[in-house]
Amino acid sequence: MQTKILTTVEAVWAAGAELGEGPVWDEETGTVLWLDIKGRRLNVHNVKDNENRSIELTTEIGAIALRKSGGLVAATREGFALLDPVTGTIEALSDPEAHLTENRFNDGKCDPRGRFIAGSMDDLETSPSGSVYSLQGDGKVNRLFGGYVICNGPAFSPDGRTLYFCDSAGCDILAFDYDPESGTTGASRIFTRFSPQQGHPDGITVDSEGCLWCAHWGGWLVTRFRPDGSEDTVIEMPVPQPTSCVFGGRDLDRLYVTSARVGLDEKELQSAPLSGALFCVPVNTRGLPVSRFGG
Ligand code: BGC
Ligand code: CA
Repeated sequence: MQTKILTTVEAVWAAGAELGEGPVWDEETGTVLWLDIKGRRLNVHNVKDNENRSIELTTEIGAIALRKSGGLVAATREGFALLDPVTGTIEALSDPEAHLTENRFNDGKCDPRGRFIAGSMDDLETSPSGSVYSLQGDGKVNRLFGGYVICNGPAFSPDGRTLYFCDSAGCDILAFDYDPESGTTGASRIFTRFSPQQGHPDGITVDSEGCLWCAHWGGWLVTRFRPDGSEDTVIEMPVPQPTSCVFGGRDLDRLYVTSARVGLDEKELQSAPLSGALFCVPVNTRGLPVSRFGG
C-alpha cells in the first residue's frame, strides 16, 4: 500500500522552545499543555482564540498528565510530583531514581486505568540507565522495565493490551503485552525499526483506529503506522526535530506536534527557523480521549 503524505502543517506558536515536549490535550479548557524541558517552562495554547501563556518552572519536567481531581501529575528531574498549572508550584511525591544523578524523567502518559507511566533517560545520552515506572493513584511506584539510554512513550492500543515504547537511541519502537488490570508488562516485540534517514523514534500517540503516530527526532517527519507496523501516512515537518504529538481540538481531529532547537547549529536553525514551535496538522482520523491520573 502506498504511503500518504500530508504537508499542511501550521505553526500555531513559534515559541522557540529548547526542547519542546510532552503535549497533553485538556478538553475542559480547550488547551494544549506542553513543556520545554530544557527551557523549564510549561506552555499553554488555547486552540479557540490562539492565545498562549507560559510559566517558568523550577526544575526540568519531561512529562505531565491531567489528574482526575484537577491539576497535573509530573515526571521531573527529581522524580514524580504534582504540578499546579497556574502557579507552577511543585509538590514532590517520590523519586525512584534518587541514586542516578545523571538521569532525568523524559516522557510519560496515563494507562487506561489512570496509572501514570513514565520513563527516564541518561541526560548525557550514553548509559543505558533509563527505566519505565508506573505511578499508581495511591502513590506506589513499580518499575516495569529498563536498560535503555532514552525512554520515550508510552502509548496504549485502544484495548489497553499493548504498550508502545520508543527505544530512541536504539531506533526501535517496541510493543509490550500489557495487562490493564494489574498494570504489568509481559513479552515485547519490535514493532518497527527506524533507518538512519528516518532519525530516532520520539513521542507517540495512538488514534481511534489503533494506528500509532510517532515524531521522528532528526528525521523531519511524523509517521502514522498501522497496527501491523507498516507505514500508512507521513507528515512532512518544516523542522528536523519534531519531538512528540497529541490529538486535540473539539473533535480530536488535529495533531499537535512539539519540536526542539537543542543541538542544532546556526546553519540548521537558519534552514528550520520554526524549530521549537508548536505545530497543528489537520488529519483524517480522530484521537482517543486520554485517561487521567487517578491520584
Ligand atoms: C529527549 C532528548 C533526546 C531525544 C532523542 C527526547 O525525548 O528529551 O533529550 O535527544 O528524545 O530522540
Ligand atoms: Ca520525547
